[in-house]
Amino acid sequence: MVIEPKMRGFICLTAHPKGCEQNILNQIAYTRSKGTIAGPKNVLVIGASTGFGLASRIVSAFGANASTIGVFFEKAPSEGKTASPGWYNSAAFQNEAKKAGLYAKSINGDAFSDEIKKQTIELIKKDLGKIDVVVYSLASPVRTNPKTGVTHRSVLKPIGQTFTNNTVDFHTGKVTEISIAPATPEDIDNTIAVMGGEDWQMWMDALLQADALSENALTLAYSYIGPGLTEAVYRKGTIGKAKDHLEATAFNITDSLKKVNGKAYVSVNKALVTQASSAIPVIPLYISLLYKTMKEKGIHEGCIEQIDRLFRERLYSGQSIPVDGNNRIRIDDWEMRADIQDKVAELWAQANTETLPAIGDLAGYKADFLNLFGFGLANVDYAADVNEMVAIDGLQ
Ligand code: NAD
Ligand code: NA
Repeated sequence: MVIEPKMRGFICLTAHPKGCEQNILNQIAYTRSKGTIAGPKNVLVIGASTGFGLASRIVSAFGANASTIGVFFEKAPSEGKTASPGWYNSAAFQNEAKKAGLYAKSINGDAFSDEIKKQTIELIKKDLGKIDVVVYSLASPVRTNPKTGVTHRSVLKPIGQTFTNNTVDFHTGKVTEISIAPATPEDIDNTIAVMGGEDWQMWMDALLQADALSENALTLAYSYIGPGLTEAVYRKGTIGKAKDHLEATAFNITDSLKKVNGKAYVSVNKALVTQASSAIPVIPLYISLLYKTMKEKGIHEGCIEQIDRLFRERLYSGQSIPVDGNNRIRIDDWEMRADIQDKVAELWAQANTETLPAIGDLAGYKADFLNLFGFGLANVDYAADVNEMVAIDGLQ
């Protein structure tokens, strides 16, 4: 069928298999163009099908020639209905890995569950023996704790008081003021339960117990800090509490990995257009001003550039891993530069529906958003009939 974007609110209901494939090819070409990384041999990526996790899988495989196992939660296609983009991304990744002679297998299911952990560990033991790097890159609005059976839902709210600021509907370009009422204590606890470090710790405990981690194994999770402009709704809001918990969990995991001399790190990444970040109020306006400013200075990066730099210049540079005072790796360094943040703050004060097209990169935002679903890419024939019923090779 001919597949077009079908927008509903902050989501796109369709995805284009050829466009998703082109995204994978572009990312592979980028990391290959930078040369080989003396990196890990066996990598497990939890949240491997989109965003930072997908880029981590691509850099591991096509930058470091690693064998990869990817875990994700994506919707399969059905006759006349497209799959979710992560499904098509993973199908394309698997095909390219096969062509390159790289081991790659994928597991589609709820990573928060005991069953998926068990299935993943069985596959590791059978095929790879041990894992050198575990990337934990889940972004989800909901988690069922397998020990208690309780389903938690995360919220994006300020804490303590109502937060009022501008936001943009990136489809229409309309800038409006929004007010978000503060979270309840339960909201905070639920958000920590979903996006905090508890499940990361459960994965690492299960891997260690199964003797599935190599000597000197590393594990990474991704965090965000951002500027004062967004902190009421991000870093000092409910999601920020979850990130505090995730960051604290890194220390606990490092303690529990002593037996294999393993280490857990959090990498603080740049704000980027993903399905997750588009749903956070205020953030799309910030991103459109940030993109404009970083592009003008020639330091804009997407997921693949960020993760390639993380592996090449932080994790596997041949030197010790540079960290901040809280033991976090910083690849948000360019976003947080004073000249960038000063400029964004100046633009923020001027941003309204009339000025934004000129002072912000609304077009770049929209293009990136469509790209997430495989639309708007060069070298893809969108008028052509394509088969939506794509299977993922190597899916367990
Ligand atoms: P994303 O939505 O692109 O990716 C989420 C991944 O998690 C997908 O592979 C999805 O299939 C998987 N997933 C979700 N629920 C799952 C489940 N129950 N079981 C198995 N897989 C599941 O998100 P992203 O933006 O790449 O975020 C990844 C991490 O990076 C998050 O911790 C996020 O907070 C962090 N981060 C994001 C940004 C940003 O601006 N997007 C910036 C810094 C840090
Ligand atoms: Na991800």
